[in-house]
Amino acid sequence: LLLLLLLVLFSMGLGMVGATGERRMASEGEGEQGRRLLHGWRRIPTTLEGPFKPKTRRFNPSLRRGSDDLPMDHPRLAKRVPSVFPEQIALAISSPTSMWVSWVTGDAQIGSGVTPLDPSSVASEVWYGTESGQYRFCQRGTATVYSQLYPFEGLLNYTSAIIHHVRLQGLEPRKRYYYKCGDSALLALSEEHVFETSPSGVSIHPYRIAVIGDLGLTSNSTATIDHLAENNPSMILMVGDLSYANQYRTTGGKGAPCFSCSFPDAPIRETYQPRWDGWGRFMEPIISTIPMMVIEGNHEIEPQIGGQTFKSYLARFAVPSMECGSNSNLYYSFDTGGIHFIMLGAYVDYNRTGAQYSWLKEDLKQVNRENTPWLVAAWHPPWYNSYSSHYQEFECMRQEMEELLYHHGVDIVFSGHVNTGTGYMRKAYLKSTIF
Ligand SMILES: [Fe+2]
Repeated sequence: LLLLLLLVLFSMGLGMVGATGERRMASEGEGEQGRRLLHGWRRIPTTLEGPFKPKTRRFNPSLRRGSDDLPMDHPRLAKRVPSVFPEQIALAISSPTSMWVSWVTGDAQIGSGVTPLDPSSVASEVWYGTESGQYRFCQRGTATVYSQLYPFEGLLNYTSAIIHHVRLQGLEPRKRYYYKCGDSALLALSEEHVFETSPSGVSIHPYRIAVIGDLGLTSNSTATIDHLAENNPSMILMVGDLSYANQYRTTGGKGAPCFSCSFPDAPIRETYQPRWDGWGRFMEPIISTIPMMVIEGNHEIEPQIGGQTFKSYLARFAVPSMECGSNSNLYYSFDTGGIHFIMLGAYVDYNRTGAQYSWLKEDLKQVNRENTPWLVAAWHPPWYNSYSSHYQEFECMRQEMEELLYHHGVDIVFSGHVNTGTGYMRKAYLKSTIF
């Protein structure tokens, strides 16, 4: 499974100041030539002026090497703390003044008969403060478990460890916080971790964002994450297809690049949920310090008993859906570093008559381009790509939503899904060069 990493991008500092000024000038009726002079580069046409001949670059076959999955006993996937202690610690932005902290305690079970743990048996606490070792504040949150059940002969069921989510509120923007999470009564708190809240509004603070999609859990994923860490981003945008747990049968073993080809007799698209726990451990060193904002991909669907989907994804990841008025964790928006991000769900109803579209319309109306001059959207499958396997795969979604995004001047779109190396340049497309 190939990952892609686009380590982007916005050295938003001076760029952001320029963005505001340039946008204002453009809106005052400057001509095309003026904009060209202003930018000093050739005008990029909008997609509405297309279609254009795709620009493709041959896939570099050497990137295929290292795409073997990491085994479950790999040190980066192995459980490193006693059962009651927090692991798989992760951050997600709630707002410039609030942060989600998530973690897992206890032991997941897999087998023919599994009994869900009681999520109320362990407290969900985050102790935090602005000085290392001094935790002046404590915030409590909620805990949950989920099960992935397959009522078919020979298939194994899974029930998760206890997943905790706590929202820290009343933080200061652009401030460093030190924290521990866990249950203080059980003397089971994590090591100290540190994060920095994002700047509020337009800022000259350099803000660097890493964009990743289709990460998986391979040797290439390791290279990607190490590369990402070296570049010290302020935030990670994860555009779907995370663990690829659904490339496995419930009995584990070896994953397959094509599940249906390798396991044609499987009664359902199976998953091996312990891969999710491995992924959480693999990511913890970076996302316990740098917030990661996720949107679901097709590998997160994971159908199970009763037609239920996205159980693991929805239980494991906190997103600011409540904060932005979305009624679903499958789509949401948030502000950070002068950017309003819109995260759209491609595997839920996106029609104009649906809840997601209504929410999007309202959300876009409320964007304040003075505070967030950049408007960036992300969803998993690209509307434009030149790869035959995925060509026009989400044309219906494009037809429903594209006009609304154009109308509100979305500047950049990021997607994943297309793993070929072709089409990547089509993933980020600009409405115009008027920034
Ligand atoms: Fe995908």
